[in-house]
Amino acid sequence: MSEKFKRIYDESIKNPEQFWQKAAEDIFWFKKPTKILNKSSPPFYKWFEDGVTNTCYNALDIHIDQGRGQKKALIYDSPIAGNKIQFTYKELKSKVAKFAGALRKQGVNKGDRVIIYMPMIPEAVIAMLACGRIGAIHSVVFGGFASNELASRIDDSKAKVIVTASCGFEPGRTVEYKPLVDAAINMANHKIEKMILFQRAGHEVKLNAPKEISWDESLSNADDVDCVEMNANEFAYILYTSGTTGVPKGIVRDIGGHIVALKWTMKNIYDINEDDVWWSASDIGWIVGHSYIVYAPLFKGCTTVLFEGKPVGTPDAGAFWKIISEYNVKSLFTAPTAFRAIKKEDPDGKFFSKYNLSKFESLFLAGERADPDTIKWAEKLLNVPVIDHWWQTETSWAISSNCTGIEMMKTKYGSACKAVPGYDVQVIKPDQSLAKPNEMGDIVVKLPLPPGTFPTLWNADERYKQNYMTNYDGYYETYDAGHIDEDGYIWIMSRTDDIINVAGHRLSTGAIEEVLSEHQSVAECAVLGIADKLKGQLPIGLIVLKAGVDKDHETISKECVKMVRDTIGPVAAFKIVIVIKRLPKTRSGKILRGTIRKIADKEEYKMPATIDDPEILNEIKQDLIKSNILKN
Ligand code: COA
Ligand code: AMP
Repeated sequence: MSEKFKRIYDESIKNPEQFWQKAAEDIFWFKKPTKILNKSSPPFYKWFEDGVTNTCYNALDIHIDQGRGQKKALIYDSPIAGNKIQFTYKELKSKVAKFAGALRKQGVNKGDRVIIYMPMIPEAVIAMLACGRIGAIHSVVFGGFASNELASRIDDSKAKVIVTASCGFEPGRTVEYKPLVDAAINMANHKIEKMILFQRAGHEVKLNAPKEISWDESLSNADDVDCVEMNANEFAYILYTSGTTGVPKGIVRDIGGHIVALKWTMKNIYDINEDDVWWSASDIGWIVGHSYIVYAPLFKGCTTVLFEGKPVGTPDAGAFWKIISEYNVKSLFTAPTAFRAIKKEDPDGKFFSKYNLSKFESLFLAGERADPDTIKWAEKLLNVPVIDHWWQTETSWAISSNCTGIEMMKTKYGSACKAVPGYDVQVIKPDQSLAKPNEMGDIVVKLPLPPGTFPTLWNADERYKQNYMTNYDGYYETYDAGHIDEDGYIWIMSRTDDIINVAGHRLSTGAIEEVLSEHQSVAECAVLGIADKLKGQLPIGLIVLKAGVDKDHETISKECVKMVRDTIGPVAAFKIVIVIKRLPKTRSGKILRGTIRKIADKEEYKMPATIDDPEILNEIKQDLIKSNILKN
């Protein structure tokens, strides 16, 4: 292990309180914390509990106080809308202070929840920061989710206000947000008090006053407001993520730990300084977008790029190179799927050769396993380090990575490098013993987790405890499986629950199954993620029809696809449903999803000892061949 990294890592594990107290000196506090870690009620740990600070102050005001108000904070570039805007820290603060005033005028106060359902436009970032300014808790919902998902988040968060826009743009289609939001509001039991809608030029929609007002109207007569003092353990946001059931989990982030940890990561993991331009090509609806489009770069005081487009098709496979060269981006963070999409379209890098990327220093990948082929292709093309790092919505920052700001380590293709300072990562085998190097098992993190990770679930302490902290006493269960090798490199191989990763988007197969079982012809079903060259995984549905159903199978399959798109959203990328005669199960009735997936992916599998009828696996294989999923 490299010496400098080892020293810092060891320090963080041996003396976490000292380590994070030092990191906490780098942020602005109205009142500095004297109590660094409260361990009195595990698994509920509290970092910096008597500290008083504000998220927005640390993202904006502090930089102006330090004389850097003219520094560029946000660069918005939308090839899809043909729009570019840049904001200095001063300009962004002024917009945020005004919108914070607008929220206040609508009765939003400290602790109130605000749902943000918006495309990738500056107003989305402004709304997030405005919530922080007045101590409201935002919950951003990804635009690719359907009304039903939005409604469940309205109900769970009991939001007072929803901030939205007239539309979003996907290549080839306009996503009209208003009908989706209206449907969600009607579906939800909890009643939203106000809708604030940003009218996109040329796509204005009709609003029903006084409950629905435009963004511009909300600003009229709004006062600029200052940052309120917030206790470090109050919440900055709720981000719902797929859980092991269809009911999403509200991951919460506390204020103090979030600022301290994220600011620390910018230098130590990503080697980003105040004068650098940083770009995270994700969506603000995901954790990567929260942490690395908005918060971490602004806490650091560098420049962040907000890109409303895709790696391909907006307009071509050179879109990423154009942004990097035009704005002198130092490092890019995205999901491997984006690079697979570029590689597919432009394998020889013809578009790449048109741009000058002389300022570009590194590429970070996360969200799904980065396959060695893609990493090697990107390394060869870009001639910079390509770093796979592993993290989760729950943690909000990397659990394992090459910490380039501390010391660059060698790449092992297929591994997400070593545990980052703050995380004591272990592997536990099925017999509950700790795994030796290279032995497979469940990956866990010893408690307490470092600052910035989730202190609980929104209104669900018991679910937090049961779901994450109970199976392995004293550890956080990541639900990822893999091994750690003799050099401490972590290899993430699979999920241990029903989560799949589709184009870097986290989805629950259980949630899709819940939708399919609502179809009147479906007796039972199984959804699994099969390997896909572009998106990493793709969900497929296997359905067994009720006795006596004589509707044709194609119609039923199409109806099922539509139901999932309408209920969960287009982001599920659910397009394949196969009607089968029966599902393979264990004698106790458990569907053998893992075995079916292995058959579909042409992986070796052992005949499960407890299978009720081995012949079913053969039937499934034939069905997969007939549907062209499995090549004979
Ligand atoms: N609003 C509405 N719909 C959305 C959406 C949004 N914000 N984001 C995606 N969708 C839709 C897409 O239009 C697509 O709809 P379609 O079925 O009508 O074509 C569907 O959801 C599936 O989207 P996706 O899986 O992203 O596929 P894609 O073919 O549109 O794009 C990639 C593939 C690889 C280009 C794209 O996934 C991508 O850019 N990924 C980058 C990585 C990333 O952002 N990861 C997030 C976490 S880091
Ligand atoms: P999300 O919460 O959407 O960020 O998804 C988190 C999950 O994505 C993790 O639990 C992993 O299963 C997967 N994941 C994220 N990063 C990586 C990575 N670098 N390698 C392998 N899997 C990853």
